[in-house]
Amino acid sequence: MSGGRYGKYGEIQRLQRLRRSGPPRSGPESSPSDRPARRNARSTAPRVHIREARPLDRTFVSRLSGRAFRRFGSYTGVIRDWFDSGAALTLLAVSEGRPAGFAMTAQTLPTPAEPPETELLAIAVDSGVRRSGIGRRLLREIEAAAREGGADVIRLHTATDNLAARSLFEGEGFRVLGLQRRFYPCGQDALLMIKGLADKPS
Ligand SMILES: CC(C)(COP(=O)(O)OP(=O)(O)OC[C@H]1O[C@@H](n2cnc3c(N)ncnc32)[C@H](O)[C@@H]1OP(=O)(O)O)[C@@H](O)C(=O)NCCC(=O)NCCS
Repeated sequence: MSGGRYGKYGEIQRLQRLRRSGPPRSGPESSPSDRPARRNARSTAPRVHIREARPLDRTFVSRLSGRAFRRFGSYTGVIRDWFDSGAALTLLAVSEGRPAGFAMTAQTLPTPAEPPETELLAIAVDSGVRRSGIGRRLLREIEAAAREGGADVIRLHTATDNLAARSLFEGEGFRVLGLQRRFYPCGQDALLMIKGLADKPS
């Protein structure tokens, strides 16, 4: 597996190990109090750059997780544990010099029979800067990192009623592979979505 632009990614441990230390099979979503601010997005688009998260970003990531995923379960500690595990790649979006969102993935190790597979564990954007293209930027960077890490598939779970997330993922070429009932700790159903990375980047 190549190191790629995000160095730690080449050393990621097995997703299964991460899963054992994490919550029941759950990736998260948004709370009603954390809805996107409607803004005239494209005309006021903030300057954004994406970088790998650093230890000092831990508080931002866990607090945003707590707000953004509240209605699905308690994710603050879970995301913090994943962040600390060293087994996940976390990318941070910085808008006008301030953290604005993050995306976190883990990747399985390749076997002789199977190439590695990347799972998007969480993606969230601060409610004040949603709908300005940050989520899409994060997702595209995650995909690029996954490709560099040798993955040929990226997968994720999202709640059936999370229309914002579904629209983002479908717009970026993910397709629904299955339904998992009561996937989240609070009982919501989830869609399993996947995207092949062998095709040319979107
Ligand atoms: C899902 C989320 C990450 C999207 O981030 P974002 O920065 O607002 O998304 P973008 O501005 O990049 O939007 C990209 C596309 O997503 C879709 N989208 C985003 N917000 C939407 C909304 N409120 N309603 C409908 N579609 C929406 C649109 O297709 C949009 O494309 P467009 O602006 O060209 O129409 C954000 O809403 C969020 O943090 N939600 C809470 C956490 C969450 O649910 N995460 C997903 C868990 S799997």
